[in-house]
Amino acid sequence: MIKLESIISLAKRRGFVFQSSEIYGGLNGCWDFGPLGVELLLNIKNSWWKAMTYRDDIEGLDAAILMHPKTWDASGHTKQFSDPMIDNKTSKSRYRADNLIEEFIAKLIKKNKTEEAKTIADKLSKVDDNSDYYDIIMEHAIKDPVSGTMDWTEVRNFNLMFKTYVGPLEDASSIVYLRPESAQGIFVNFKNVMESSRMKIPFGTAQIGKAFRNEINTKNFLFRTREFEQMEMQYFVKPGSEKDWFEYWKVQRWNWYLENGMKEEKMRWKLHDKLAHYANFAVDIEFEFPFGWGEIEGIHSRTDFDLKSHTEYSGKKLEFVDTVNNERYTPYVIETSGGVSRGLMAFLCNAYTEEKMIEEGKEDTRTVLKFKPSLAPVKAAIFPLVNKDGMPEYAKKIYHELQKNFKVQFDTSGAIGRRYRRQDEIGTPFCITVDGQSLDDNTVTIRDRDSMLQERISVDSVTQYLKNKF
Ligand code: GAP
Repeated sequence: MIKLESIISLAKRRGFVFQSSEIYGGLNGCWDFGPLGVELLLNIKNSWWKAMTYRDDIEGLDAAILMHPKTWDASGHTKQFSDPMIDNKTSKSRYRADNLIEEFIAKLIKKNKTEEAKTIADKLSKVDDNSDYYDIIMEHAIKDPVSGTMDWTEVRNFNLMFKTYVGPLEDASSIVYLRPESAQGIFVNFKNVMESSRMKIPFGTAQIGKAFRNEINTKNFLFRTREFEQMEMQYFVKPGSEKDWFEYWKVQRWNWYLENGMKEEKMRWKLHDKLAHYANFAVDIEFEFPFGWGEIEGIHSRTDFDLKSHTEYSGKKLEFVDTVNNERYTPYVIETSGGVSRGLMAFLCNAYTEEKMIEEGKEDTRTVLKFKPSLAPVKAAIFPLVNKDGMPEYAKKIYHELQKNFKVQFDTSGAIGRRYRRQDEIGTPFCITVDGQSLDDNTVTIRDRDSMLQERISVDSVTQYLKNKF
């Protein structure tokens, strides 16, 4: 089993992901994307954007992160977007009460105490309010992992929205929130998009953008962070047709991951036991991370909750007028909501491979990121076999030519085998080598990352060769 630590270490060493403000000791729950990380992010986002908006019925949007504060009253976030929090008075550690219980269940399972684990899991699925969490913790003597005590406070709600102020006065009238989901920007622009693009139901609006949540416990690298990016699409449908569209979008979204190289055995569906206040059905796509299964995308049928609520709070009617059938209604919404950074982590874990191999008579391990070529941050690397005899100059010309179309790297340092390894480790699908023969007959060798096989092709056909592969 691959360890998450190996992936985090590679991500840092090779410039995919850095700790935010590392020189000051880092900021918990925030990460920076390095030169390769930003390429990978863009490739994921571009693939999603193409799949979701290069079609007749979906248009794009980029709404502001700061929105009118009433937005969050209407969406229910001011009242309901909170996690149950518990503190240990001895260690001063803070936990999400449900996570604390889940981790205790996992420990029981490890110790083969499955009966007790089942009983607690059953109680957890029936929790109604915060006192139920507290009762489970006390009844099953769940101790603080840090102090080993049961010196618990009661369980309280903790709102996850980040608060800030607009303008120079820091008072109640100037409070705004960093959006905790990008979806609300789409709901409040429902009419703007529909009217400006002359859309008819069913139609959707897609958006990629940052969201912020003051998570109580950030953990597992990019999985749960305080600042992250979402790729969301709200599809507006006629009431009564939502179940069909829900099924349609489940298939589309599942296939998108497969088309981008996700291994199907690493994905599964998770039905929601408890539905959010706005949903009438919901499923998650989960990925098997090194630490276990976790959600990467949710597909939710959000009913007409959001549009009706914004109509009520804003006084502006958010409906569709069907002039053909002479009817008007508030559309229902099917939402597809994936995380970009969490998705990037899933694609990294999916691609990370350690292969045993024999090189120069010795057993060795080759680390390869087997990204689908279209997602790979660097598409090709160009090497002169040796740094003389005109080879570097010849190779540089190919490099500049390819740079017009692709993100490519040029590397002259070290033995050719080492250069291949460096590219394998960042997932570069093709390595092009200029050797003595190249200068005679204008051919180069091109090596495939996964098979490690090489073929010799004419220099003039390299661009087309790569274009065909992507
Ligand atoms: N608009 C619906 C919505 O926001 P969600 O299940 O809370 O639903 C959707 O979030 C996706 O956003 C998740 O599947 C996950 O990929 C990503 N996400 C949510 N919270 C996150 C966090 N704290 N850190 C990283 N990604 C997160």
